[in-house]
Amino acid sequence: HSVAVLGAPFSKGQKRRGVEHGPKAIRDAGLVERLSNLDYAVHDFGDLTFKHLEKDEHFMHVPFPRTVGRANQLLSGAVSGAVGAGHTCIMLGGDHSLAIGSVEGHAQQCPDLCLIWVDAHADINTPLTSPSGNLHGQSVAFLLKDLQNKMPEVPGFSWMKPFLSARDLVYIGLRDVDPGEHIILKTLGIQYFSMRDIDRMGIQRVMEVTLDHLLARKQRPIHLSFDIDAFDPSLAPATGTPVNGGLTYREGIYVTEEIHNTGLLSVMDVVEVNPTLGATPEAVDSDFSNIQHIVIGPDTREHQK
Ligand code: ARG
Ligand code: MN
Ligand code: MN
Ligand code: MN
Repeated sequence: HSVAVLGAPFSKGQKRRGVEHGPKAIRDAGLVERLSNLDYAVHDFGDLTFKHLEKDEHFMHVPFPRTVGRANQLLSGAVSGAVGAGHTCIMLGGDHSLAIGSVEGHAQQCPDLCLIWVDAHADINTPLTSPSGNLHGQSVAFLLKDLQNKMPEVPGFSWMKPFLSARDLVYIGLRDVDPGEHIILKTLGIQYFSMRDIDRMGIQRVMEVTLDHLLARKQRPIHLSFDIDAFDPSLAPATGTPVNGGLTYREGIYVTEEIHNTGLLSVMDVVEVNPTLGATPEAVDSDFSNIQHIVIGPDTREHQK
């Protein structure tokens, strides 16, 4: 098995700068070395270079639509290339608008993929429902066929068409959902597990139902889009839109362990890591060790070897 690591230092899907330094911070914490130590052949594809377009007026209240569209087009090609070359791809963001290109590029190679979205937020606003205008809160709306008639044509995105069905998506960790998003989740009958659902059912049952929902009919490639703000802010404070009451360390790791055990993980996004927002350098360090563990497993696994 070989792993491609692909950095996407991009932040124009939201208004706080700093999240473009996520890939460097995660690499500096030793991700590539630690993956190699687990006996994966690691291909570091380096970081993509994104252009900021000079002329890029708001679309409605959505900032930088063409810049975000173009960045995702570039990322889509890179992810498609990595998956096409036979690698499991780890995409390091950058903000969560990058999931548009990451999932789209993955789907070019694996049209039957399913999507597990681990996040405090649903990121399923359309430009019409979005309270902030930020595209990192709208990524899923660009992917879903079922929302096609609710989506205006956003400049910068004519290179792609929605391709994902609502039944091929499961959310885990939701606790900050906007009113318009809640209506969409309910109308489309999307399977989601809020933090309250995790309280009630336990993470073990949540993963059982998640994998059953996505894989019972047939085994297929999994795209895991992990927004670091799914974790409780006490574990991952360095992120732009933290929300209290998130996943514990074990719950977050359990999600990724269960996905690992399917043998079907094909692409993983690690997004919304903003190293400039940690309270102290120490907080930022422990943040990065938690982040690495969702990719490589907890330290105990190393000790067991
Ligand atoms: N729902 C809010 C919005 O639409 C917050 C989205 C936060 N998204 C994220 N990827 N952190 O702006
Ligand atoms: Mn900077
Ligand atoms: Mn989020
Ligand atoms: Mn998100």
